[in-house]
Amino acid sequence: MNSELLAKAAIKLNRSKYTTAFTGAGISVESGIPPFRGEKGLWNKYDPKSLEIDYFYEHPKESWEVIMEIFYDFFGKAKPNRAHEVLAILEQKNLLKSVITQNIDNLHQEAGNTDVIEFHGNSKQLVCTVCRKLYKVGEIKMEPLPVLCPACDSLVKPDFIFFGEGIPPLAYERSVEAAEKSEVMLVIGTTAEVMPAGQIPVLAKSTGATIIEINPEPSMLTRFTTDIFLKGKASEVLDELLNLLEA
Ligand code: APR
Repeated sequence: MNSELLAKAAIKLNRSKYTTAFTGAGISVESGIPPFRGEKGLWNKYDPKSLEIDYFYEHPKESWEVIMEIFYDFFGKAKPNRAHEVLAILEQKNLLKSVITQNIDNLHQEAGNTDVIEFHGNSKQLVCTVCRKLYKVGEIKMEPLPVLCPACDSLVKPDFIFFGEGIPPLAYERSVEAAEKSEVMLVIGTTAEVMPAGQIPVLAKSTGATIIEINPEPSMLTRFTTDIFLKGKASEVLDELLNLLEA
């Protein structure tokens, strides 16, 4: 790790009055959850079509089979890793405000961050597509597939955003507001390929934020948006950063 860049990032973080974090699947890789893209990406193994909203309504059983395998059989058991823990410590030290996450794994909340903006929803909640009743995962029967609403027998959907669905308006609004207020934005573990999420760090930059990116690989942001690129795994880089921070 480049100690000069780390020191530069630490100075920015110590001086910032409004720091936010924007996270993607990469921050959960060390919790055992594979990313979507890259050599071990989930989209190499599963067809992302299964998570398109039209496909879900046309082929609910097939779509639910993929959803169950990726997000419930697998994700469900993951625990926060050191990277999630450090972000929670930064909030406790008043060095971090909101975490804007594209992830649906609930790990930021489980690590202790209290202001988590879920850009793509959360996999721990289910919603009936007709009566809109909300259920917690495990609260209702989830087999046989597709999952049906105990109240009205209609198709139940995980309460996260499918391809082709709009971003939850409140999450979008709060993300834009947090980005515009940011003096520093930590961008951790994202290719920033998916829109409109990928625009949030660009917006923060356009309103004056310093973008500190943490990733083993460059992303769509690295060349033109990122100010300080800290190459490495989220847990290692964040741990080293924490050691350099005051308070
Ligand atoms: N620490 C930090 N970053 C890592 C690590 C790690 N240990 N391991 C991998 N990464 C990086 C990869 O280099 C890559 O840039 O994490 C990123 C993962 O990228 P994606 O899989 O594209 O995940 P993300 O950017 O969150 O995808 C955005 O796409 O499929 C949709 O809705 C889904 O929210 C997701 C969105």
